[in-house]
Amino acid sequence: MLHLKRQLPYRPTERMNVVSYPIRDIVMEAKREEAKGKKMIYLNIGDPPQYGFEPFQVIADRVKSALDEPWKGYAPSEGDEDLRKNVAKIEKCSPEDVFAVAGLTEGIDFFFHAFIGFGEKVLLPNPVYPLYLSKAKQFEGDSVFYRHDADGQIDVANLSRKIEGAKAMVIINPNNPLGSVYSEKNLLEVIKLCAEYDVPIFYDGSYDQLILEGRQVDFRKIARNKVPFIYGSSLSKDFSYPGARIGWVAFHGDRWSEVKNAFFLLCNQRLSVNWEYQKAAAAAIVDPSFQSYVSAMRKKLIERRDTFIRMARKLPLSFPVPQGAFYAFMKIESPKWKKDLAFVRAALKEGVVFVPGSGFGRQEDGVYFRSTFLPEPHIIEEAFSKIKRLL
Ligand SMILES: Cc1ncc(COP(=O)(O)O)c(C=O)c1O
Repeated sequence: MLHLKRQLPYRPTERMNVVSYPIRDIVMEAKREEAKGKKMIYLNIGDPPQYGFEPFQVIADRVKSALDEPWKGYAPSEGDEDLRKNVAKIEKCSPEDVFAVAGLTEGIDFFFHAFIGFGEKVLLPNPVYPLYLSKAKQFEGDSVFYRHDADGQIDVANLSRKIEGAKAMVIINPNNPLGSVYSEKNLLEVIKLCAEYDVPIFYDGSYDQLILEGRQVDFRKIARNKVPFIYGSSLSKDFSYPGARIGWVAFHGDRWSEVKNAFFLLCNQRLSVNWEYQKAAAAAIVDPSFQSYVSAMRKKLIERRDTFIRMARKLPLSFPVPQGAFYAFMKIESPKWKKDLAFVRAALKEGVVFVPGSGFGRQEDGVYFRSTFLPEPHIIEEAFSKIKRLL
């Protein structure tokens, strides 16, 4: 009889085989260690409030006042009017070119969904923020990777060998995981190449205010009218408010009308993004006190980065010095380790959580891992003292 037969667990779809997020996947293993009583230092995730960075106060204040407003319905699918208007001011585009998304995560999902079809070539940085790998697989695009030089700049010669026939190129600047900030010269060379091969750019500006060294280059200014691009950012990193889940994308150039229609459909089918936080984002991104907020954040990040570099340089590790964002991508120069996951698991046993380099698509030429330098200097020092004997 059917009801007496042992029932097997339900199986997820085949599609799930390509879904992964190594930055969080490793946490499950860390939690098991923690449950055994081990104290863990989490250097795997770029979550500023976890390490004492206060979110930009204007956001919370505006959310509170929005809660007292009578509106309790869905926000417009494509985004709140004020948010679109204020993003457009910064982007120097029309509000119709702007879409609000639930964190840039959703913007990246929509970009692949709307623009990268089966077998279509998308140029991704190597190493790359893992979501891009996962989305390219999910939408069956053909990921092709461009390299960086030892200073973390885009290797233009390498890119020029791969660019032909690409549907789009992704640029993440400042870069996660490398922490590199591309120079104006480097970006201009890339723009020239993309224009020559007619390749539009998806520009991930999640960390665009977090430049720790050198001059900030406004990509929009140098790319406008040269190459079509989509510029994305969010409240998560620059404003230290990842929990808000608010991001935006802006289309630049006059060839996007059909892709914008596709974005409309994708926005419509998920109804809307949280209304109160969109109102808060609209206020925050044009608030004059943001500049002093972000310069205090940069100062703190520089101190933490410098501690991180000082500690890392005592060990057999090589890496481009992070000039932006809050990550370093480390190559292990000690022959002890052949597999990144083996090292990351050993570090976990010592009480420190990193992400293996293979999670960022990098493993073919060495053993890599990524660390954030967000924690306070004494925690960074403690983490290094725990792992030094492994190297
Ligand atoms: C390069 C990059 N892009 C996009 C995101 C997604 O961020 P959010 O969805 O919180 O805006 C992240 C998050 O870590 C990131 O590092």
